[in-house]
Amino acid sequence: MPKVTAQGKTFQCEQGSNLRKVLLENGIDLYNGNAKTINCHGFATCGTCTVQVEGEVSAPNWQDKARRSLPPHSPTANRRLACQTQVLGDVRVTKFDGFWGEGSQTVWTPEG
Ligand code: FES
Repeated sequence: MPKVTAQGKTFQCEQGSNLRKVLLENGIDLYNGNAKTINCHGFATCGTCTVQVEGEVSAPNWQDKARRSLPPHSPTANRRLACQTQVLGDVRVTKFDGFWGEGSQTVWTPEG
């Protein structure tokens, strides 16, 4: 089973699991600030579940690309919507600042 490392924790999930669900089920602070309550619950419309992912995951789908093409996101930034990403192998996840996770400062890294 793939291992996910985020915010100082490492846990396993089924191959093909939804990254947003895996992170939330394991108590990871996926959302910044008020985005914890104001988010689209995985429908690719709010853009606040954005993270940087290293490792084997599904290719970005059109919803992921479309939402990240809109400000404040940038289509060229190395980010993904967790809610549109499937875990295919071991992954390491980093969260950046800003309401949408669009910033340049890390909020947490794989190590903590
Ligand atoms: S939870 Fe809203 S875009 Fe992912």
